[in-house]
Amino acid sequence: MPVDSRLEVVPFVEVGDFGPGFTAERARQCCADLERGGILFFSGIPYELPQADVNFLLSYAARDSRFHKNVSYRPASDVLRGFAGDAESRRRTHDVMRRYSRQVTGFVARLLAPYAAHWSLDYASYRPLEEAARSLSVHKRNDLLHVDAFPTRPTRGGRILRVFTNLHPANPRVWEAGLPFPALAGQYAAAAELARFAAENSAPWRRVARALGLPLRERSRYDSFMLHFHDWMKENPELQRTLPRRHLEFPPSSTWLVFTDGLPHAVMSGQFALEQTFIVPVRAMVEPELAPITVLERLSGAKLA
Ligand code: SIN
Ligand code: FE
Repeated sequence: MPVDSRLEVVPFVEVGDFGPGFTAERARQCCADLERGGILFFSGIPYELPQADVNFLLSYAARDSRFHKNVSYRPASDVLRGFAGDAESRRRTHDVMRRYSRQVTGFVARLLAPYAAHWSLDYASYRPLEEAARSLSVHKRNDLLHVDAFPTRPTRGGRILRVFTNLHPANPRVWEAGLPFPALAGQYAAAAELARFAAENSAPWRRVARALGLPLRERSRYDSFMLHFHDWMKENPELQRTLPRRHLEFPPSSTWLVFTDGLPHAVMSGQFALEQTFIVPVRAMVEPELAPITVLERLSGAKLA
């Protein structure tokens, strides 16, 4: 198979100047870099994040052992989840997460302007745990290479875009990442039984519910395969050992963006990160032929959503 020159390397793109001179053409190029499996990197925090908010997140996590989980924030409903502290700390955390989510969303809307009218804003999270010290079941482990898929939020082909900021005052957040989706799927989708998922019919009760016009958040064949592929990758020692990857260290206060459904990644260590997720439909892509759903439909010869 001829190598697609757009996929030869995993681009690690330092965006650099993001001032008033940031043009529509550069925004489009940033989208294209991400869609090829690239990581967009900023050495600082390119949106407003008050130092008092950072200090609060760091200090509260350090002094309260009940703060033992990742916290999530749902911008659409303005709901905070996973927080177990007292009422005042909860109110403050909620405020900080609401402000963070708004600011980072405004920043991404400018950086990736072609997506902004199309995306749906997903959850934000604060990740106060040391990743190197967690003990989790295989499917939950994030130190094994995987592509992201959400069990409770099917995207029906929509892409998972994530922006991270490392808040740790001294330590980097350490990732391994590599091999963009077209190459990954070319090598492994058949072994992961893509054909079986492509041939799946929706369950009879779902067909009845659809016929009755009941609202369904239906998982498409695409979602079923991607959920399976996420687990399958983590369970596969040969893939874990041999998949080409780069070792990446994101320094304190740096910010990076990546389509985590399209680039295998693992977090090896790091603590205190903020993250916001966006679901971006394939119709907003600059290079839709590189989207995982397009790649999987080409490989399987079937419609998957
Ligand atoms: C992941 O999506 O696998 C986790 C990434 C991180 O928390 O750095
Ligand atoms: Fe992940």
